[in-house]
Amino acid sequence: MHIHHSIAALRADLKEAGRIVLVPTMGNLHDGHIALMRQARKHGDSAVVTIFVNRLQFRPGEDFENYPRTLAADCERLVVAGVDYLFAPDEDEMYPAQQQYYVDPPSELIGILEGEFRPGHFRGVATVVLKLFNIVLPQVALFGKKDYQQMLVLSNMVRDLAFPVEIIAADTVRADDGLALSSRNGYLTAEQRNEAPRLYHTLSKIVAAIRAGKNDFPVLEAEAMNELRGNGWAPSYVSVRRKADLQLPQVGEAGLVVLAAALLGNTRLIDNLEL
Ligand code: PAF
Repeated sequence: MHIHHSIAALRADLKEAGRIVLVPTMGNLHDGHIALMRQARKHGDSAVVTIFVNRLQFRPGEDFENYPRTLAADCERLVVAGVDYLFAPDEDEMYPAQQQYYVDPPSELIGILEGEFRPGHFRGVATVVLKLFNIVLPQVALFGKKDYQQMLVLSNMVRDLAFPVEIIAADTVRADDGLALSSRNGYLTAEQRNEAPRLYHTLSKIVAAIRAGKNDFPVLEAEAMNELRGNGWAPSYVSVRRKADLQLPQVGEAGLVVLAAALLGNTRLIDNLEL
């Protein structure tokens, strides 16, 4: 695996890379990331992974400082997964001066769900991802559906700005008990880890209820929030939305996704299930 920390060296090396498939990450890689890497190799000649904990997408008081940085272990996993190039810039390489140009996603998409609870988050994500696209110039980029709203923000960004990259959305990888894999699962105590799959099971119940013909979504959402609260969670939202734009669906509409975010102790977990 070729490892680069500078934009210039990476660009020079990628000249011979052929069709490039990019997987942007913040590191602390788990099996969900590795599943993306394995898919990446099927879509082109070279798999490029980036590891960069992007300050722009964290709010003051979030976990930017404490976000686990595990570069040596990540490198070992990437080699095993057959990744060809790793770009792991430091902060000065990515943001040599204070960033003054940003990508501002539309408020209809980022004023809701995660965006409502994390103002500025998607602006930071869109800005760094466009910058990574400009650095790597990939033909394909992979993002996990666990961050459903992020995936939509980025798909719409490349469409609106005509960036020549195909975005592929990869299925969420789960532990055997249903918990969606996430770097933040590492913050959970053993007791919280036992409780954590409830988020997935709560979403599954809503999906089953909708499939069985229940269509009073606010009632289903309120029941789910109550179940989470009753088990020690502080839910931010549980919400049935349209997959295409994450707006509220009309009764009887198909193409839905159920999304949830909730705090378990100090750890904020998110998950979603498509219907
Ligand atoms: O999903 C992530 O890990 C990050 O939001 C991303 C896409 C790498 C941008 O920093």
